[in-house]
Amino acid sequence: MTAQQLFQPFRLKSLELKNRIVMAPMTRSFSPEGVPTPKVAAYYASRAEGEVGLIVSEGTVVNRPASSNDPNIPHFYGERPLAGWKAVIDKVHAVGGVMAPQLWHMGVVAAKPSGWLPPAPFEGPSGYVVPGKIGGVAMTEDDISETVWAFAQAAADAKTLGFSAVEIHGAHGYLIDQFFWHPTNQRIDGYGGQTLAERTRFAVEIIRAVRKAVGPDFPISLRISQWKLQDYAAKLATTPQEMEAWLVPLAEAGVDLFHCSQRRFWDPEFTGSDLNFAGWAKKLTGKSTITVGSVGLSGDFLAAFQGETSTPRSLDELLRRFDRGDFDLVAVGRPLLADAGWSRKIHEGRSSELTSFSKEALATLS
Ligand SMILES: Cc1cc2nc3c(=O)[nH]c(=O)nc-3n(C[C@H](O)[C@H](O)[C@H](O)COP(=O)(O)O)c2cc1C
Repeated sequence: MTAQQLFQPFRLKSLELKNRIVMAPMTRSFSPEGVPTPKVAAYYASRAEGEVGLIVSEGTVVNRPASSNDPNIPHFYGERPLAGWKAVIDKVHAVGGVMAPQLWHMGVVAAKPSGWLPPAPFEGPSGYVVPGKIGGVAMTEDDISETVWAFAQAAADAKTLGFSAVEIHGAHGYLIDQFFWHPTNQRIDGYGGQTLAERTRFAVEIIRAVRKAVGPDFPISLRISQWKLQDYAAKLATTPQEMEAWLVPLAEAGVDLFHCSQRRFWDPEFTGSDLNFAGWAKKLTGKSTITVGSVGLSGDFLAAFQGETSTPRSLDELLRRFDRGDFDLVAVGRPLLADAGWSRKIHEGRSSELTSFSKEALATLS
C-alpha cells in the first residue's frame, strides 16, 4: 500500500502542513475539571511525532454555563484550562506538530450515567434533546449573542496560545447542528425558519465573529455532518441546491475549510454521482475540504462503540478520490486513537504493522 500523495505538503492561508493526514477530533474525557493534563499533552505530541500533519483536538467547550455534560471534557476558557492547553501546544510544537482546537458547545444533550449536571439547564434553539422531547431550555437572543461571543473569545485565545487554526464543531446533532436541523429548531424568530438557509444564521454569526477575532489570515475549519447522533439517517441537505444554500453563506462568512463528517467516506452524498460529502462541499463552495469516516478500517465508529472490532482496510478507494481532487485533507480517527504511529506506518508502507481497533482502546490515553 503506497499513499505517497498523502505526504505532499498543504498550505492554506497561514497554515502550513507537511502532509494531508489530519487527526480527527476525538473526545477522550481525560481532563478533570476541564483542565488538560500533562498526559493529554503527551498523547497529542506522540501523534505529531507519528507524522500527523494536522492534529484537531477533541471537542473542547466554550464559556457557557451548560456547554458540557461531562466534567472530564476540557474547557477552552478559564485560567487553568488555558494553561493546560498552552502546555499541550508547546509540547506539540516541540516535536514539530501543528494543531487546532475543536471548539464545542453541546447544546441540549442527555446527562451522563454519572448524573453529573452543569450549573445551568442545557440550552439549544428550542430545548429539544431529540425531536419531540424537551431536555433543556430555548435560548434567548441574549443567550445566542453571548454564545457567539464565547466562540469568538475561544478562537482569539487559541491564536494567542499558538494554535495554527481553529475548528468549530457544527456537526453530529450538537448545538450548532441543532440550529441547522428543523426537528430541533422550531424557532419562529430570525434564527429559525422553514429553510436550511434560514436556520444557518446562528452558525454564520459565529463564523463572522470568529473571523473578526482571529483576523483574515488564520484558517477557520467548520465541522459539519448530515447525520446526527439523534438520527443516523438524517439529511440536512437532500439536493446539491440545498447544500449550496447551506454552505455558501458559511463560506462567505469566513469558513476556509469544511470538515465533512461521514461515517463511511465512500458513501455517495446524492444519487447520480459517486461524490462524497467533502467532494460536494468543495465543488459547491470552492473551499478546501477534509474527508473522514472509516479511512483504513473495515467498520464505522458507531459500530465500534457497540463492540465491533474494525480491521485494517486498503486505502485504494480513498486515493482514487483524492487523486481526482475531491478533497484536500483526510481525517483519521480510531486508527490514530489506537496507534500513535499510524501515519508514519502508512508513509513508510508498513501496512503489515497496522492494527485493528476495538473499543478497549478508549479506556486509556496513551
Ligand atoms: C472516541 C471518539 C470520540 C469522538 N469525539 C468527537 C468529537 O469530540 N468531535 C467530533 O467532531 N467528532 C468526534 N468523533 C468522531 C470522529 O472525529 C470521526 O469523525 C469518527 O471517529 C470517524 O472517523 P474514523 O472512522 O476514522 O474513526 C469521535 C469519535 C470517536 C471514536
